[in-house]
Amino acid sequence: ATVRYEAENAPATCDGTIDSNHAGFSGTGFCNARNAVGAALQFTVSASVGTAAVLVVRYANGTTTNRPADVFVNGTLLQTLPFAGTGAWTTWSGSTLTFNAITGNNTIRFSPTTANGLANIDLIDFTTEGPPPPANN
Ligand code: GCU
Ligand code: CA
Repeated sequence: ATVRYEAENAPATCDGTIDSNHAGFSGTGFCNARNAVGAALQFTVSASVGTAAVLVVRYANGTTTNRPADVFVNGTLLQTLPFAGTGAWTTWSGSTLTFNAITGNNTIRFSPTTANGLANIDLIDFTTEGPPPPANN
């Protein structure tokens, strides 16, 4: 199943503001994190079983400079994503990660490694092979 997690919806935390001034985002806004090293966006996703997982992060970077970020899964560094320029702040693109999710809650943290901070991040789509979690969970 694939579940969408919007950056503007708790328990996601955005070290910055939820903005809506660049069209093309999903939901009611996107995370414009502070332009600083370590100004992070964190999602919490739920897996009903421990399973291989695929995550697509939707972002825009209207500059011509990469906005690299370390991606931590449950506190462990998975990899660094480049978040390359997309051509405009209104042009949104996806980057894909794969990892092993644990049963229950998993934190996915995007932590920028340069003073420019993160790209604007709209959402993540999280896909596991298990069934979706119960609705009232
Ligand atoms: C502009 C843009 C923001 C973006 C920022 C940045 O201010 O409007 O959406 O986050 O640049 O460079 O990080
Ligand atoms: Ca920003």
